[in-house]
Amino acid sequence: MEYKVGVISGDGIGPGVVAEAKKVLDHVGEKYGHTFCYTEILMGGVSIDATGEPLTDEAIEQAKASDAVLMGSIGGNTQTSPWYQLPPNLRPEAGLLKLRKALNLFANLRPAYLYEELKEACPLRDSIIGDGFDMMIMRELTGGLYFGERETKEIDGVMTAKDCLTYNENEIRRIAKRGFDIARKRRNKVTSVDKANVLDSSRLWRKVVEEVAEDYPDVTYEHMLVDNCAMQLVKDPKQFDVILTENMFGDILSDEASMVTGSIGMLSSASLNDTKFGLYEPSGGSAPDIAGKGIANPIATILSAAMMLRYSFDLDEEASAIEQAVKQVLKDGFRTIDIMPQDESEKQWVTQIGTKDMGNKICERI
Ligand code: IPM
Ligand code: MG
Repeated sequence: MEYKVGVISGDGIGPGVVAEAKKVLDHVGEKYGHTFCYTEILMGGVSIDATGEPLTDEAIEQAKASDAVLMGSIGGNTQTSPWYQLPPNLRPEAGLLKLRKALNLFANLRPAYLYEELKEACPLRDSIIGDGFDMMIMRELTGGLYFGERETKEIDGVMTAKDCLTYNENEIRRIAKRGFDIARKRRNKVTSVDKANVLDSSRLWRKVVEEVAEDYPDVTYEHMLVDNCAMQLVKDPKQFDVILTENMFGDILSDEASMVTGSIGMLSSASLNDTKFGLYEPSGGSAPDIAGKGIANPIATILSAAMMLRYSFDLDEEASAIEQAVKQVLKDGFRTIDIMPQDESEKQWVTQIGTKDMGNKICERI
């Protein structure tokens, strides 16, 4: 089969890690008889530099014409990059938000999994880690605070900023259903996270989740307040299977969950709509401080490519082959700098390698 893959290399470490993911895809293609045709799509800082906008209409059309889009990362140093002198709607991140909305990518799946081999990189104590953890953060991605009305203006001589958090029941229902569906393919547990002790939007969230839960009697579910969830993630991460939550809470909790696994450089994500189309990107950011040094961890992007094979192209065997190869590379002791053990005595067991070598080693194991 031939698949049309839109590629957003983006900024910072983006181009470097995307190059490795393409290398792995091409390798899978050769082995299993598929062809991946890539179209480079501009978004983020590179798009601002080339066109003055973080995402042009042409870029949106290119994404829509693709079977799926693979993305690296966008954005730069918010303190020093000239992109952040621009009005907010012209900054790199605005491009990503616009793309998610334009393609209706409401369901964001962020798996957080502790690899046996990376226990040393996990900041938690052994007694908390136990035999590891494996959770899926389901983040609502096109509603809430990030898409509400916002403005900054002077009221009675005082500068005042406003951001609106709105959800309607349909937006909540469709992500809740996805969350319960995914739980059925995992360990049948949903933890719905909200702030229902304060927010109206959270009280509606809770009510709709309860309605949806009635159709899934085989899935256990619970509600958890977001501040408690932040604590539970470091206190006892094993308790979670699917964490179902709104946009901003999911943004924050998914970064926390990823750090608990040792490195944000390991975590993939998929953003899906009602069709087979998806946008696949590492959960981490553009890491401008290490861009161009050849040391970034490409595994999150490579695993995002695996998610693309599984969710958009139904190529489960090929996706598993990539995931197994990643595990094997770790087993064989290869590490990028971000997942090196902290303890000096552990370092003798592993070999530190760069971005390209990591891509090569994964290909060799497919
Ligand atoms: C993420 C990022 C984005 C978000 C930013 C870049 C707009 O932090 O994907 O988690 O907040 O959604
Ligand atoms: Mg984020």
